[in-house]
Amino acid sequence: AFNELVFSGVQPTGNLHLGNYLGAIKRFVEMQNRDAQCLYCVVDMHAITLWQDPQALRGQIREVTAAFLAAGIDPRRSIVFNQSQVPAHAELAWIFNCVARIGWLNRMTQFKDKAGKDRENASVGLYAYPVLMAADILAYRATHVPVGEDQKQHLELTRDIAQKFNTDFAGSIMAHGHGEDGFFPVTEPLIGGPAARVMSLRDGAKKMSKSDASDNSRINLTDDQDLIAQKVRKAKTDPDPLPSEAEGLKGRPEADNLVGIYAALAETTREAVLAQYGGAQFSAFKGALVDLAVEKLSPINAEMKRLTADPGHIDAVLADGAARAEAIAAPTLDAVKDIVGF
Ligand code: ADP
Ligand code: NA
Repeated sequence: AFNELVFSGVQPTGNLHLGNYLGAIKRFVEMQNRDAQCLYCVVDMHAITLWQDPQALRGQIREVTAAFLAAGIDPRRSIVFNQSQVPAHAELAWIFNCVARIGWLNRMTQFKDKAGKDRENASVGLYAYPVLMAADILAYRATHVPVGEDQKQHLELTRDIAQKFNTDFAGSIMAHGHGEDGFFPVTEPLIGGPAARVMSLRDGAKKMSKSDASDNSRINLTDDQDLIAQKVRKAKTDPDPLPSEAEGLKGRPEADNLVGIYAALAETTREAVLAQYGGAQFSAFKGALVDLAVEKLSPINAEMKRLTADPGHIDAVLADGAARAEAIAAPTLDAVKDIVGF
């Protein structure tokens, strides 16, 4: 038995980018070195909260799986699987829909961003998305969830749902022989590092995102060397040289972003990067960033290509992962049904 249970997911919505890699996937790989069972999920049920072309979706699911494996997630040590293949997620989400309050969901800023102006026409799934996310995490009673900063509010909702379930059903939880600490753990979000929020290369006020209309705003994990170089060189900056201390990045979002990306790729801190490059012009720093990004991302890109050429292998990894995930989630769901009175 492990001390910790780590869960996280990535949506198969296409255009996996450097923010997904540095804020999430790279950290998933690092978590494998803890005393933890790690589960990494391709969350296709989240993806369809916005329209996905059915022909494309299957390929996107395989592509995220390939990115997980190419980045260094070991499917023997970690459980790599596809959300829709484990029914406990949807079943638990329904029960949580009856625990969560409408007022809680009304506060979710990501829904407001993604629904845009035509909120009446957004899917019910997009609105309920954070409840499904709570079910993803709590079906495994996960203790730790590594995510980018944009998921902070959703993780807080997961904690609220766990606590409300524990309180609402306290008597039944005890009657079914579960401890006084409640049934669900209050999950710790793991948000941090220099790339918890990677920003667009074209606009320092927007996060790097799959859905940005400008492909130059992000580095995709499928970009080749030349494209990486071109996008970094074109990245927006201000005219001043790099400061020599992190304090000097305040009010300079584009500079802060490029230094943060460099630090995350080099597995160091902004301070250490500035100790080396403080006083340098951006043209020189961008050259160094291109070299580093190509060095770190090219092997992942090549391995993703190799893996996606063999969809049978990817599907076998997902089938094995689903069986192992199901074995953890099914007893939890059985206990939840008993607690609820089903
Ligand atoms: P996206 O937000 O790009 O649509 P997902 O919702 O599938 O992608 O997010 C997958 C993971 O990547 C989440 O942990 C999310 O917090 C992280 N992530 C997404 N964008 C960024 C970003 N710009 N910087 C850091 N992490 C990010
Ligand atoms: Na996101």
